[in-house]
Amino acid sequence: MKAFFHRNPVELHFGTKSLEKTGELAKRYGKKALVVTGRESMRKSGVLDKLVGYLNEAGVDAEIFDGVEPNPSYSTVEEGAVMAAKCDMVIGCGGGSAMDAAKAIAIVSFNDISVESLFSGKEPPGTMPVMEIATTAGTGSEADRYFVLTNPETKEKNGLGFRCSYPVASIIDPELMKTMPPRVTAATGLDAFFHGLESFVSKSSTPIGELYAKEAMRLIINNLERAFRNGDDMEAREKMALASTLAGLAIDAGRTTLLHAVEHPVSGHLNVAHGEGLAALSVPYMQFTIPSCPEKFAYVASLFGEEIEGLTKEEAAMKSIDGVKKLLAKVGMDIGLKKLGVEERMIDTFVKEASKSVLMKTNPRFASSEDLRDIYLKAMEF
Ligand SMILES: [Fe+2]
Repeated sequence: MKAFFHRNPVELHFGTKSLEKTGELAKRYGKKALVVTGRESMRKSGVLDKLVGYLNEAGVDAEIFDGVEPNPSYSTVEEGAVMAAKCDMVIGCGGGSAMDAAKAIAIVSFNDISVESLFSGKEPPGTMPVMEIATTAGTGSEADRYFVLTNPETKEKNGLGFRCSYPVASIIDPELMKTMPPRVTAATGLDAFFHGLESFVSKSSTPIGELYAKEAMRLIINNLERAFRNGDDMEAREKMALASTLAGLAIDAGRTTLLHAVEHPVSGHLNVAHGEGLAALSVPYMQFTIPSCPEKFAYVASLFGEEIEGLTKEEAAMKSIDGVKKLLAKVGMDIGLKKLGVEERMIDTFVKEASKSVLMKTNPRFASSEDLRDIYLKAMEF
C-alpha cells in the first residue's frame, strides 16, 4: 500500500435545525461576525434574517456583505476583506461561491495581502476563523480547505487551498436546501457526484478519502433524482446533504482531476453553473480516463447496479459510462457544451487554460493538448 497523509480539522454540525447552533458556535470566536453571502437568495428565503437572529441572541453582532456573485472575482474578495478587518470572524452562508469567498476574504484580511499574492505559491501564515453554512448540496466547501476564484480580466478560474484555509466549524442543515430549484439541485448534486468519482480515481487518492468518495457516490446515485423531483422530500435532501459533505472530505483527501480542470474554463468564461459544465464534459472525460484505472471505474459501475458479472474489468469499467448517462438523463442534465453556449472557436483558449491547471497532475492518465481538444470537441453534443 502506498504511504498517505490525512488531516481534516473541520468541526461539522449536521442535521435539520442545526442553523440554530450558529450563535453559540460563533461566540467562541469573538463578538462580531462578517456574514458573507450572495446578492439575493439568502435574503429572499429568510435564512439571512434567521442567521442574524441566532447570532444576536448569542451576543454576536453581524455585519452583512451580500456582494458575492456566482464565480466570485478578486474585487469581491477585496471588498469583503475591507469589511472583515473590523470583525473577529467570517461566516460564509450560501452555495460554493459564498463559502469560497468567505475563505478567501478571511485570509486576505488577516494577512493584509492582495488576492493575487494568494497565487504566489507561498502558504499564508494564518487566517481569521471561518464558519461555513451550506445551503446547497454540491460544493463540499464546508468540509475542505479549497476555494475557487475567478480573475475578472482573463476569466481564468483557479482553485486554491492552504493548511490554514479550513473552516473552523460548518453547519450542514438540510432544511436550508429545501428551497433549491430542481435545476440547481441537479447541477450541485452532480458536482458532488463528480467530486466523489474524481477523488476516487485521483492519483492523490487515499484509503480514507476513498471511503468518503464511495459512500458519497452511492448516496447520490440513490437520492439525487428524488430530491430533483420533489424538493420537499427531506429524506432525500438529508442524504444529498450528507453526500455533498462526504464528497468534500473526499476531495480534501484526494483532490479532483481532469474533469474539473477542463470544466473551470467553461464556467469561468460563460458563467454557466459549474455542475452543468461537469455534466456536459463527463462522458468524454470518462472515456479518456477509464483505461488508466479500469478496476476503479468497474466499482463505480457496480454502484450504479450495472450488470457486470462475467465481464472483463475493462468491459465492466465502460459500464460506468452507462450509469452516468442514465443519472444525467434522469435529472435533465444530458446536455452538451453547445447547449451551454460554447462555440468551437473558444476551445483553443479552454485548452490553454486547462493545461495549466494543477488538476491535470492528479488525473490517472496524462492528457496532452490534443487530448484536451478532443475531450472538448466530443463534449459539444451529448
Ligand atoms: Fe466541483
